[in-house]
Amino acid sequence: MKSFKRSYIASVGTNVPDNIMYNKDFEAFLDTTDEWITTRTGIKRRHIAPRGVDLKASELGAVAVRRAIEQAGLEPQDIDGIICATFTPDSFFPSTACRIQAITGCSRAFAYDISAACAGFVFALTSANSLIVSGVAKNIVIVGAEVISKSLDWKDRTTCILFGDGAGAVVLRGTNDESKGVLATQIQSDGNLGDILVLPSSGSDCTMKMKGNEVFKHAVKMMSEMSQKVLDSTGLSVNDVDLLIPHQANIRIIQAVAERLNVPREKVVINVERYGNTSSASIPLALEEAWKDNRVKSGTRILFTALGGGVAVGSALVQF
Ligand SMILES: CC(C)(COP(=O)(O)OP(=O)(O)OC[C@H]1O[C@@H](n2cnc3c(N)ncnc32)[C@H](O)[C@@H]1OP(=O)(O)O)[C@@H](O)C(=O)NCCC(=O)NCCS
Repeated sequence: MKSFKRSYIASVGTNVPDNIMYNKDFEAFLDTTDEWITTRTGIKRRHIAPRGVDLKASELGAVAVRRAIEQAGLEPQDIDGIICATFTPDSFFPSTACRIQAITGCSRAFAYDISAACAGFVFALTSANSLIVSGVAKNIVIVGAEVISKSLDWKDRTTCILFGDGAGAVVLRGTNDESKGVLATQIQSDGNLGDILVLPSSGSDCTMKMKGNEVFKHAVKMMSEMSQKVLDSTGLSVNDVDLLIPHQANIRIIQAVAERLNVPREKVVINVERYGNTSSASIPLALEEAWKDNRVKSGTRILFTALGGGVAVGSALVQF
């Protein structure tokens, strides 16, 4: 396959469970309040797989992928690769991406998962962009798909109130039109910070553990620094950015990152109040809303940034 000068985001598709959990619902079984959750996190509700239903990340993700492929005007046969970012995979193997491939009928595609937790979307975008510009593939679907509700300790008020389930996919396509596409990405990891955010795979307690204050502090610093780095690598400044779409973890993290970068409030896309933290699905969920609200037009430059367990951090500058 021939290589391309750029890859661009052609479409987005999302999917969340119908079931909604409100802050008030936590008051029935936890020592917490709607007021605490709203003021400390900005979250008011989240979509959660109904209790007792064994929803798979692949089932959520496949619908998002199908929608993104349709939206791009493509057929499943046109897809060369599926990269799924998830920390709640159906199984260690087959990968969730392979399951999604089977459900969606993208039978020509390669498919694999990546593990970068909440930074998964930016890591997947970076991988897919590299595969396209190097000529390995022309059309790649990136999907963040998470059923986080099954990884939570529902007795731990410091974590379970933060998250929601969901999936978001984009189709990334090769082009030689240099007026649009992924302008730059930067990814980095710091394994020494691994213990601040952990989901164990074995042992007596396989639920998520988090040092909230530590994560908060590193998220603000590292997402801001990565975003500045990606801007510097293109020679563009923050004034050249039309929209900032940060990972939707906590309204206070989002505001602090925007403040550090000097991005005015009206340029920041925020929907954390309705979804909570959906990990690798949060950026495509916010992108779809911005697109539907007519905030994404030809030429719009969007800065994505995210941090997740690992610690993994990444930023990307994309022109539409
Ligand atoms: C978790 C988080 C919301 C906690 O907010 P905070 O303002 O840092 O609050 P603290 O952890 O300092 O806790 C303050 C008090 O509230 C309490 N508290 C924690 N969760 C609570 C809840 N759901 N309801 C009521 N009180 C709660 C704490 O126990 C603590 O009580 P204490 O002072 O008696 O010890 C915040 O640290 C955060 O969002 N961190 C980042 C998490 C994240 O985004 N993770 C994913 C990254 S991808």
